[in-house]
Amino acid sequence: MRAIVLNRHGGPEVLRVRDVREPEPGAGEVRVRVQCIGVNYAEVLSRKGLYGWAPAMPYTPGMEATGTIDALGPGVEGRAAGERVIVGAQYGAYAEKIVVPERQALPAIAGFSADENAAIAVNYLTAWVALMEMARLRPADRVLVTAAAGGVGTAAVQIAARFGCATVGMAGSDEKLETIRALGAEEAVNYRGSGFEARLREAARPGGFDVVLEVVGGEVFRAVWPVLAPFGRVVVAGFASLALQRWNPLSWLRTWRDLPRADLRSLAPASHGLMATHIGYLLDDSPRLARVWGELMTFVAAHGIRPVVGATFSFDEMPEAHRLMESRASTGKIVVRI
Ligand SMILES: NC(=O)c1ccc[n+]([C@@H]2O[C@H](COP(=O)([O-])OP(=O)(O)OC[C@H]3O[C@@H](n4cnc5c(N)ncnc54)[C@H](OP(=O)(O)O)[C@@H]3O)[C@@H](O)[C@H]2O)c1
Repeated sequence: MRAIVLNRHGGPEVLRVRDVREPEPGAGEVRVRVQCIGVNYAEVLSRKGLYGWAPAMPYTPGMEATGTIDALGPGVEGRAAGERVIVGAQYGAYAEKIVVPERQALPAIAGFSADENAAIAVNYLTAWVALMEMARLRPADRVLVTAAAGGVGTAAVQIAARFGCATVGMAGSDEKLETIRALGAEEAVNYRGSGFEARLREAARPGGFDVVLEVVGGEVFRAVWPVLAPFGRVVVAGFASLALQRWNPLSWLRTWRDLPRADLRSLAPASHGLMATHIGYLLDDSPRLARVWGELMTFVAAHGIRPVVGATFSFDEMPEAHRLMESRASTGKIVVRI
């Protein structure tokens, strides 16, 4: 079968499709024939060697895909070849076939296209866990989402706005602001260029934001604290702006400066909270995954939510898909079709 095997870190050109042996499912596992792959920013980071959750090389990257079950390992019951599924994994999805524990193959959503099924798991689970499980969103909350035109960002804006929250999205270009408003945001703010703190203050209204979903880090992370309401909660799910270069000591200093962090003494006066989330742990926690996924699916169906698929590429174009994600020009999810 064909798969992308990462055997050195580097630019998008290291993502080359090769012929590899087809994997066989072991006990409790299923093999899935992949139709579409959902591309994640974490895979850009792992390609560069900057992602802590990546396995040792060589390995096939890829955290999510959709396709059909094509083989069952010993002991798997209640699943069948041909079943359409969404797969979540630590790695392995940049391939024609992937083997995962049966619990990591969730039923695909009927009525969604293959592109949409490849675009929902990571982004919507991340947004849902951050907003609902951690920040404990209430409809009266004023919500701020950073990188709001991106994969996680579009999911978060849709969820918060449909939940009834006045929602503001921030992004790095004026072109993205319309996308954010079209998803239900009351306002959209460009955080690149001078004066963005003033625009943010205006969008915060006198009361400030109750909940912030932050995935950028650096000056964006620092800018949210002055506009946070009392009892406000900031949930950090990423830091896309950090650009660590292994051989550049200045970049180590900048990375250290820009990593999201807070001092308890500065949080206490206005009762502010800082939390962080990584949904990878859900892969090992079947009961929690089942509950959270079930609640998310109920909400998605009730509100007619569909993922924004901003661009599609063929399997051989995976380097182009990564280039687009790094360029900051993408909106919604980037999907690669096998
Ligand atoms: N915690 C978790 O479990 C989890 C799961 C999924 C994703 N994440 C994180 O959530 C964030 C979004 O992930 P995604 O897959 O949905 O990607 P994405 O938002 O579609 O793409 C990344 C976005 O980050 C923004 N960005 C800001 N500074 C950047 C820089 N210096 N270089 C590149 N991009 C920059 C860009 O939007 P603007 O130009 O509009 O700023 C870019 O479009 C990432 O930080 C990712 O690591 C976390």
